[in-house]
Amino acid sequence: MSVFVILPAAGIGTRMASTGGAPKQFLTLRGLPILQHSLQAFLSIPRITGVYVSVRPSEEARVLALVSEHRMEDKVHVVIGGDNRQDSVANALAALPSTSDDDIVLVHDAVRPLIDPQTIERTIAAIEKHGAAIVAFPAVDTIKQVERTADGAIITATIPRELIVHAQTPQGAKIPLIRRAFAEAAADEFTGTDEASLLERANIPVFVVPGNQRNFKVTQPGDLEIAEFYLAG
Ligand code: C5P
Repeated sequence: MSVFVILPAAGIGTRMASTGGAPKQFLTLRGLPILQHSLQAFLSIPRITGVYVSVRPSEEARVLALVSEHRMEDKVHVVIGGDNRQDSVANALAALPSTSDDDIVLVHDAVRPLIDPQTIERTIAAIEKHGAAIVAFPAVDTIKQVERTADGAIITATIPRELIVHAQTPQGAKIPLIRRAFAEAAADEFTGTDEASLLERANIPVFVVPGNQRNFKVTQPGDLEIAEFYLAG
């Protein structure tokens, strides 16, 4: 059984305005690009066979240079991403040299640099047992459903928070299952914001592995400081 990893890193990072629009996966945290932190977390697990990073064509050379600088050529491969996250993942899925129906793929947002090896291991174990799994953590706030109005929003319902988890990554499955989910989504022209939404609509049960708030997605100005704080702790 092989375990592959896909790191979609082809986003533009438009919400990170204070960086002058630099893609957030290349901002530095403790002197290393965010992408490198994510790569190191997965490369620390010996059973991971290969990591496939999806990048924008204009950033291919810079990522290849990073791979060479950190001597990761044996395990890290670069593929060209697409216009949305799903297309970036689909391109990498097509490139995986998988040969067995038991092979597993994990997809992890390159911009979640604080993923820990134990959570990755637990996700792999959950996929081995259940077929598909994602990392998520329970909601602590009370969750409201709203209807958008011209003035903002108005509450239409309160959703019991014990029924809610916040989806993170890694998200993954046995490779034939995730390939089927992606093929069905493409056939129906469905675009989701994560892999689980594609697996769910293909009626593939997705198991939840407990995550934690450290594994957050670097998204907005201020998030780099929060990541530095966690790293210092
Ligand atoms: O857009 P969002 O912040 O949700 O992106 C999550 C991950 O998906 C990021 O690592 C980003 O680089 C990646 N992405 C991608 N291709 C796109 C858009 C986003 O690989 N076209």
